This record gives sequence, structure tokens and C-alpha cells, in this order.
Amino acid sequence: MTARILDGAAIARGVYARLGARVAELQDAGVRPGLAAVLVGNDPASKVYVRRKARACGEAGLHSEVHLLDAGCTQEALADRIAALNNNPRVHGIIVQLPLPRHLDAVSILQSIAPEKDVDGFGWRNLGALVDNHPLFVPGTPLGIMALLDHAGVAVEGATAVVVGRSTIVGKPTALLLIARGATVTVCHSRTRDLGQVTAQADILVVAAGKPGLIRDGMVRPGATVIDVGINRLADGKLAGDVDFARVKENAGWITPVPGGVGPMTVAMLIANTVTAAERSRR
Ligand code: GUN
Repeated sequence: MTARILDGAAIARGVYARLGARVAELQDAGVRPGLAAVLVGNDPASKVYVRRKARACGEAGLHSEVHLLDAGCTQEALADRIAALNNNPRVHGIIVQLPLPRHLDAVSILQSIAPEKDVDGFGWRNLGALVDNHPLFVPGTPLGIMALLDHAGVAVEGATAVVVGRSTIVGKPTALLLIARGATVTVCHSRTRDLGQVTAQADILVVAAGKPGLIRDGMVRPGATVIDVGINRLADGKLAGDVDFARVKENAGWITPVPGGVGPMTVAMLIANTVTAAERSRR
């Protein structure tokens, strides 16, 4: 059996189509949702991601601002910029593109974003509340993963789910969302012994390790749903996920491609969070 492809780009278009009505309603009330993206330094991948987010804002009818700070900017200058955005009524959502240059303290910067504008959901107010199922905002990639599962009609309740990767922005929040929906969840990482033996148990396998080719054919249960979060630039310049797509797709039930799987969904969920922030600002 060959897996069905979970086409994130197409599913994201459906998300934007549904957001259109909400954006129009805000517009009628004189509110244009606004997202500010702060980018420090010249990381080429980060520039691409920020440009994509700004373009998505434009296409969805949102106001967008990109704040470029040079690679040597001080902690104070960055904190001042966030404080100004916290107080700017045109801006409903604020994101700081990660990673930040090493001389900056990312943790304290992320905490300085007002929780009601923290549309990436990376601040402790939101991450902590996610543990108790009451965040103001959930990070975009985990939200996008759940939307992909729902689009495919994959049963989450009662499923055996394995998440490979324990990052704060993908692995851990994804595990929390799966638990909340009734999956039995195992989180694997770089210290896991016999990774393939664990991943082979999964009905739902989410891979966010940043290692191309980590998940090979024999590590996936036939018929499983495979969500590949990895975006790795290979030596030949091509993009690849963490899953050996060509082989694994021969036996999986559903699989996401890279590019065109999780990535477009992450951006769509960020835009949706920003629209939600704007709606809440009216109350
Ligand atoms: N770096 C990698 N993923 C993300 C993301 O979703 N948001 C931000 N701000 N930075 C990232």
C-alpha cells in the first residue's frame, strides 16, 4: 500500500479561505489584524521564514511589519523594540524569529512579549497554560500538526502516538496536544535507546529531530500516519525532512512531504492566531 499524501499547502489554503470571513468581519468593525515579526541578524533560513510570514499576512489581508535589527544589537535595544510593539495598537501579534544570536538571552526576550500578543505561544504564560489546557495561544507547528491529523480524519483518541524530538517549540507542545486529545504518547529524543523499536509501535508518528533520513522504512508501522517536521538543507542544496520519504511512503497510511507538508500549516496557524488576537482586542 502506498501512503496518501497530506498536502499541507492545499490544506493551508482551506485555512486561509475560512479565515477570510473573520478578517472581513474585523474590517467592517474598523480593525485590521496586525503581525509584527522581529528578525535579528542575517540567518538566511530565518529571513526566508520571516518573508513567508509577511507574504502570508498580505495575502490574508493582515497588516504586517518586519523589524530588522542588526546581528550585534544589544539586549536593551531588542527589549525596547518589544516594549514599543506591546504598546502599539496596530500590532495584535508579535513574533521574534528564532534562533537569536548567541549573545542575546532569548528566554527573557520571549517573556517580555505581552501574553495576549504572544501569537507564537513561546512565552511561559502560554507554554505553562498549555499544560493545563488553557493557553491564550498554542505554537503554530503543533497546531498545524493537529489540523493535518484532523484533515486526514485520523483518530487521535486512543491512538498510540510517538513524538521524536523534545524541543520547546515543537516536540513538547505537540505531545501535550496529543495527550489532551486522548492519545497515548511517548516522546523520544537523541538519548532514546533503540529508537526504531519505539517508533514502530506508533499509529501516529511525529518527527521533529532535525536529522535527515533519521526515520527509515523498517522503523514505521504499516498504515501509520507520519508527520515530518524536519526541514534539512542537504549538500546538494535540496530540502529533505527527517523521514526517508521515498521508502517510508510505500508502507505508511498517510505521510507529509517536505517541503509542502507541515511548513505551510505552521504559517497558516500563526496567521489564525493573529486574527484571534485581533478579535480578542475588541472585547
Ligand atoms: N524558529 C523555528 N520555528 C519558529 C517559529 O515557529 N517561530 C519563530 N518565531 N521562530 C522559529
